[in-house]
Amino acid sequence: MKTQYVADVFTGIRPTGGLTVANYLGAVHPLVNLQNGGRSPIVFVADLHALTDNEPGIARSHTRGVVADYLALGVDPEKTKIFIQSDIRNEISLLTLVLARLMSVAELVRVPTLKDKIKENADPESANALLLLYPVMMAADILMQRAHYIPVGEDQVAHVEITRKLARKFNSQYQEVFPEPEVEVVETLRILSLKGDGKMSKSYPEGAIFLTDTTKDAVKKIKKAQTAFEGEMSPHLKSHIIVTKGLTEDVSLHNQIDEIIASHLQGDAVMGPFKALMGGITSEFLSRFQEKRAEITSNPSYIDDILEEGRSVAQRNARETMELVMEALYT
Ligand code: TRP
Repeated sequence: MKTQYVADVFTGIRPTGGLTVANYLGAVHPLVNLQNGGRSPIVFVADLHALTDNEPGIARSHTRGVVADYLALGVDPEKTKIFIQSDIRNEISLLTLVLARLMSVAELVRVPTLKDKIKENADPESANALLLLYPVMMAADILMQRAHYIPVGEDQVAHVEITRKLARKFNSQYQEVFPEPEVEVVETLRILSLKGDGKMSKSYPEGAIFLTDTTKDAVKKIKKAQTAFEGEMSPHLKSHIIVTKGLTEDVSLHNQIDEIIASHLQGDAVMGPFKALMGGITSEFLSRFQEKRAEITSNPSYIDDILEEGRSVAQRNARETMELVMEALYT
């Protein structure tokens, strides 16, 4: 039997509240670009994965919210199918078991993301066993939909490699069921905290612009942001430029940013006007997002219908895949 791709672009979304503009620019915007470039993505909310570090109720409570966020950020349900992972929970659990037997504990303990995820300096052996299985369940997500391209950031590439390896192993031990997925690396943007060290993250709210921030709060945070000495570029300023340009497609605004930065690099004191422009563009983006999200959530059946359509696609693929898997295992 020849293996065939069923899904084109496929990726997972973590059901977390409190998305920041960095989440938008790093994860949502690339997806919207693929969709608008004529690709047909399937995305899913990874609510079962979220059980690795959340109680089930918490994971559930964020699920619909993150769908509303993605829709308000430009994901178009006509082009992109969205489903909830737990809508195919039986199939995912079973495929995770089937694939887990093709991997050794030693291999799983060496997965680099495991070390990052367990608390500081903890021994990998202390990891929650579901966390150890994370890459296997991720492989189950991808192989279940027999997906071709997986757009992920640098940190997830190792997981897709594991997926490819599991596909090869299953195919050679049993039957050719799984086509090998390919990574489509999404450029990782280094968006820093507005001030202080590290990346923009919700764990340091003063340095992060949340999609739910009022425009007033966002402007206040931007005013306090770290920039650079006249005539110099700094990692913070570089990051502010990426954010500001990423939040608007207006070419004349991009030109204004370039002009201000050019004059800054010549030694002029223009960080005030730069922050004003950044504040204005960010406010405009936030208001548009918040308006659209309110519109989307004012009609609950709108999201229900989208998720129902996604469920039907995902479930059809899942049932077909599991039939092939079972046939391969037991014949
Ligand atoms: N591991 C991904 C992340 O942390 C989310 C994810 C789960 C995923 N399953 C996936 C991404 C399958 C792509 C394909 O962001």
